[in-house]
Amino acid sequence: MADPVVVLRNVWKTYREGQSIITILRNVSAIIYRKEIVGVHGPSGAGKTTLLKLIAGLDRPDRGEVIVDGYNLNMLDDLGLSLIRNTVVAYIPQDYGLIPEFTVWENIELPLLIAGIDRNEREKKIYEVLEYMGLTAKIKAYPRKLSGGEKQRVAIARALVTTPTVLLADEPTANLDWENAVRVAELLHKVRDDFGTTVILVTHDPRLLEYVDRSMNLIDGILKDKEGMPYAKLH
Ligand SMILES: Nc1ncnc2c1ncn2[C@@H]1O[C@H](COP(=O)(O)OP(=O)(O)OP(=O)(O)O)[C@@H](O)[C@H]1O
Ligand SMILES: [Mg+2]
Repeated sequence: MADPVVVLRNVWKTYREGQSIITILRNVSAIIYRKEIVGVHGPSGAGKTTLLKLIAGLDRPDRGEVIVDGYNLNMLDDLGLSLIRNTVVAYIPQDYGLIPEFTVWENIELPLLIAGIDRNEREKKIYEVLEYMGLTAKIKAYPRKLSGGEKQRVAIARALVTTPTVLLADEPTANLDWENAVRVAELLHKVRDDFGTTVILVTHDPRLLEYVDRSMNLIDGILKDKEGMPYAKLH
C-alpha cells in the first residue's frame, strides 16, 4: 500500500521584489510516497530551491499546506519546525552548507548536539555514518581540504546521521564530474534501500534522470508530471 510521506496541498509562494510581488509557486499540489526517489527539474529561477525549503520547514508557504510524515508544518511554530528539521527532514543545500571552521567529524556531530544526543551515542552514530559513506580517513579534515565529491558525501553524512524520513538534496551533483556524480546517485539509492528514506532531489543534470523513480517539472510556478500534466489534484 503506497504510503504518502510528503503532501503538498494547494501551495502558493510569492516574494516581494521592490513594489511588485512575484509568484513563484502557483497552487502546487503533489504527493510523494515513502521510499520514492523523486527528481524535481525546471529552469533556473523556477522555484525548485524554494519548494525544497518549504518541505524542509526552512520557509513557509503564503497559502496551502505542507505535510511531512504526518506533520502539518503550518501547525508548528519555529521551535516545532526546528525539531522537525532535526528528525523528520534533512536538507542538503547546493553549496553543501558545511561549516569551514569545523572538521568533518564536528560538522557531522552538529545536528546530534542540537538534538541533545549524549556523547557515547553521538560517537557511535558518527562512526557508523562515516564508515557507511567511506569517509573514515577524513575524520579530522577541514572542508577546504576535501574534493567536491567528498564534500557532498560529508553533507549527505551530516543529513543522514539523524536518520531522517525525508532527505532533500539541492543539485547534489551540480559541481561533480561524471564519476563522482554517479557515486552520489548510487549512494542516494543505497540510502533509500538500506534505511527506507524518501529522497527528493532537485537537478538540472540529465545524467540523474535514470536514477529517479519519478520526475516532476516545475514550470511557471506549476508542478507537472513527465507528460506535462499539472499535479492539480490529490488522489
Ligand atoms: N528570499 C527571497 N526573496 C526574494 N526572492 C527570492 C527569495 N528566494 C528566492 N527568490 C526568487 O524566487 C525565484 C525562485 O528561486 P529559487 O532559488 O527557488 O529557484 P531555482 O529553481 O532553485 O533556481 P536555480 O536552478 O537557479 O537554483 C527566483 O526568481 C529568486 O530570485
Ligand atoms: Mg536552486
